[in-house]
Amino acid sequence: MNQLDNSDRDQRLVSDQFPRSSAYHPDWVMANAMGSNSMWLAEWLSTVMELQPGMRVLDLGCGRAVSSVFLAREFDVQVWATDLWISASENIQRIRDAGCLDRVFPLHADARSLPFAAGFFDAIIVIDSFSYYGTDDLYLNYLANFVKPGGQIGIAGAGIMREFEVVPDHLREMWTEDFWCLHSADWWRRHWARTQIVDVEVADTMEDGWKTWIAWHETAHPDNNLELDTLKADRGENLGYIRMVGRRRKEAALVDYCWPDNLRFFPPEYAQHPLLRNESA
Ligand SMILES: C[S@@+](CC[C@H](N)C(=O)[O-])C[C@H]1O[C@@H](n2cnc3c(N)ncnc32)[C@H](O)[C@@H]1O
Repeated sequence: MNQLDNSDRDQRLVSDQFPRSSAYHPDWVMANAMGSNSMWLAEWLSTVMELQPGMRVLDLGCGRAVSSVFLAREFDVQVWATDLWISASENIQRIRDAGCLDRVFPLHADARSLPFAAGFFDAIIVIDSFSYYGTDDLYLNYLANFVKPGGQIGIAGAGIMREFEVVPDHLREMWTEDFWCLHSADWWRRHWARTQIVDVEVADTMEDGWKTWIAWHETAHPDNNLELDTLKADRGENLGYIRMVGRRRKEAALVDYCWPDNLRFFPPEYAQHPLLRNESA
């Protein structure tokens, strides 16, 4: 049997739920993964976003640029693949090997200090990364600056089905302190909808997302018994995938003094005043 026959029969990560992703080689997807299957999440998110050929898309927290390559190839968009932990010099190699050097541009940047012009992007997508910085009440007010008015911002990733104060017993072993940044679709909806910055178009949970999470892990991380056992014990009661899409309102009035990359200072206006009442005479 030759190699082609082997790969033809390789059914790993083939899924009716993700027809576009199913065309990609499972070894490539797994070798470049950073936890979740970012291609599945990007495909899920893409079904509720408007992605037209030629659009400029920011893939924020792109990790190893799997979603960036996927979006560029599937939707013929240009992608600025931006990440903090993975260097641009590493990502350019996989982007080149994927044949996307003309459409996917790797950058090393912090989500709190983005090097882009206002309104540069037609859309912003964030896969399994937004929780690390997007819970900041002021962050949307910053990120929205980079998408044109009327453009969409979409996030997708691991999440919880309901908010809780006490970690359920069966999650306790897996629940390290970083898990507290996971939130429910309703939490995220409220987080954005109460601002006047975006209209929230979608905030929902993947149907049977816990099964999808298990299916990915059974293929990509079959030895991760802690995560697999926890997911199986939970049966989707708490853990799964969430996504949200907001469209920047045309009239959104962003407030730039509190942007995280703001290096400006107020003009000097110091005048001496007595500190204590009995010094005032
Ligand atoms: C779980 S990984 C997901 C990566 C990729 N999106 C994926 O799904 O494979 C989280 C990513 O968020 C990125 N990240 C975390 N904090 C960030 C920040 N402040 N600015 C930019 N990226 C950040 C990390 O660099 C990391 O690649």
